Amino acid sequence: MDQSNVSVQARVLGILSGRSTEEPFSVFAEARAAGAVLSIPHPMGSEDHRAWLVTHMDEALKVLKDKKGFTVDPSSIEAEGVRENLSVDDEAPDTFFSGTSMLFVDGFDHRRLRSLVSKAFTPKYMESLRPRVQEIADELLDKVEADGEMDLVTDYAYPLPINVICEMLGVPEADRDKLQIWSSAIAKGMGWGRQDPTVTEHLAQFGNYAKQLVEDKRQTPGDDLISKLVTMEDEEDRLSESELISMITLLIFAGHETTSNLIATGAFELFDHPEELETLKNDRRLVPGAVEELLRFNGPSTSVGPRYATQDTEIAGQPIAKGDMVLVLVKSANRDEEKFTEAENLDIQREIDRHLAFGQGLHMCLGAPLARVEGDVAFSTLFRRLPNLQLKYPREEIAWSFTLSSQGLESLPVTFSFH
Ligand code: HEM
Repeated sequence: MDQSNVSVQARVLGILSGRSTEEPFSVFAEARAAGAVLSIPHPMGSEDHRAWLVTHMDEALKVLKDKKGFTVDPSSIEAEGVRENLSVDDEAPDTFFSGTSMLFVDGFDHRRLRSLVSKAFTPKYMESLRPRVQEIADELLDKVEADGEMDLVTDYAYPLPINVICEMLGVPEADRDKLQIWSSAIAKGMGWGRQDPTVTEHLAQFGNYAKQLVEDKRQTPGDDLISKLVTMEDEEDRLSESELISMITLLIFAGHETTSNLIATGAFELFDHPEELETLKNDRRLVPGAVEELLRFNGPSTSVGPRYATQDTEIAGQPIAKGDMVLVLVKSANRDEEKFTEAENLDIQREIDRHLAFGQGLHMCLGAPLARVEGDVAFSTLFRRLPNLQLKYPREEIAWSFTLSSQGLESLPVTFSFH
């Protein structure tokens, strides 16, 4: 398609919706050059409020860290929110999209919901899971080692995080395939202003499954996070049924979709930068730093938000009115040339002060310490056990698909010979 007459904002939204197949980073660079704050059409067609795209790091931080000036909950300021566009099955239980999950509330309710599970997600506790994450990574490679080839997405990047989060939550092993099908369909089926018809059905099945799981844990509690949430006696903190199911579906979904993308896309980027990959193989102590750089360079989330202005304000001199919607383009902010030297280059030894792959502020990713442990184990194990890992087909033949408002990989066939 000839892009010369299409505004850069429309091209960014094309990428966020999954309808465009343009190479995203050159579009984001154009968006950054066009301005730190760009006007976009309001997705709800609001006549009262406008919508904005934030492309630079400083302005992104201003929005995400200003807990008084911006909220995730438009109903608290009587503004129109994107979730109003969602099609859900009214008979099915709420999930994190339709119900009350910590992602979409602020203030007291956010603190209440987040603090219930935040004890389980401390860096110290996540570190204590490392030996089990390592076992899972090794078991997955044991299964394929003799074949000399595997699909890095379906044999490794996907099953690793789903097994880790499901063990934490106490989801039976036999059910994990179903969760993968629903989550993947939801991630692929939803984008900016777009919801595929099958998403409603998958959300309903996901919600019904979580409801049944809660029933099972009530009958037979185990030593897992869902059982702890279900059996909590403290009246003040207790979750309503809808909050409980929203929380469980959020933890399952957020706990693996993104991390699988980090592992698969991260591996692809390393193959695409053979000198960086060589450096990493030669010194695996560089892996934690490489994970941060892979998150900055091409992390799983394209955007964070939307947020809604709670009062009239300005960003980079642009007046923003109360109720306006602001979408933070984190993949653009993470390549802001004012903050990173040679921002468009992958440099696994880069010293990074801050990137926005996990968001920032009160809603910053709860699972970041877990994702870091998983990323570290996944890459260290992969390159230690299969040092001569290579792409099976030329990189041009690797198919990207839309996942979670981001580019993801359906499949990444690799070969190796082991010794
Ligand atoms: C590489 C992997 C991951 C990435 C890139 C990622 C990214 C993000 C981002 C950008 C947010 C902020 C959303 C916003 O501000 O609107 C977020 C929130 C969240 N993430 Fe992650 N995430 C990852 C892994 C995980 C894992 C393993 C879990 C574990 C359950 C998790 C659970 C959550 C939860 C519960 C929230 C909501 C926090 C809140 O609203 O207070 N994430 N994540």
